[in-house]
Amino acid sequence: MTMGLAIIMEDVEWLKSMLSEEREVRPPSNRKKEQRHLNGNCVKLYDNSQIIAYAETRKVGSHIEISTVLVDPKYRNKGYAKQLIKKALEDIDHDKILCCTKNPAMAGVLDSLGFKITKWPGFWTYFVLSINTIRRLFSMLVRLDFKRIWHQGKGIHKYDQFEIIRN
Ligand SMILES: CC(C)(COP(=O)(O)OP(=O)(O)OC[C@H]1O[C@@H](n2cnc3c(N)ncnc32)[C@H](O)[C@@H]1OP(=O)(O)O)[C@@H](O)C(=O)NCCC(=O)NCCS
Repeated sequence: MTMGLAIIMEDVEWLKSMLSEEREVRPPSNRKKEQRHLNGNCVKLYDNSQIIAYAETRKVGSHIEISTVLVDPKYRNKGYAKQLIKKALEDIDHDKILCCTKNPAMAGVLDSLGFKITKWPGFWTYFVLSINTIRRLFSMLVRLDFKRIWHQGKGIHKYDQFEIIRN
């Protein structure tokens, strides 16, 4: 029990520090919320008992969106993001899957797994994505996280929406 809790706390600390360092993704929340994220809809990879990769999945309109994709810097360019997204695709029981990114490495991973760029994911998905963007902007403003707002805002036109539609 104590061991299990210790491992979970290590995961929470890892996730919080990754979210603080990586301005491409959402800002970190408090420990309790991050623990809930880690216990909820997400995929994780471990090296021995050390968490090395993480991504969240959530319903967005008529899609399941894969977001907040993070690979520990020590493990990058070794195929872990590809492995992680493959795992997410296996876990997700839904016909429409979406992932939005402007990161070239991430775009390469999605392309190699059969995702295609879409300009119009449908009204409901577009609507919920827009609401989520406003909520994220608000959460960054509340945290006075101007560096993150600048980082994400300056390349907003570069974001692509990658989609897989399964039968
Ligand atoms: C994006 C990220 C998840 C990629 O993780 P990763 O484990 O390094 O990815 P992989 O090793 O599985 O694949 C990377 C691929 O992109 C390629 N690549 C790396 N840097 C690249 C670049 N600047 N431009 C184009 N391709 C690039 C690699 O060669 C590799 O392709 P290959 O499999 O054909 O050799 C990781 O860099 C990360 O956590 N970044 C910070 C957070 C972030 O930006 N997340 C994405 C938000 S959606």
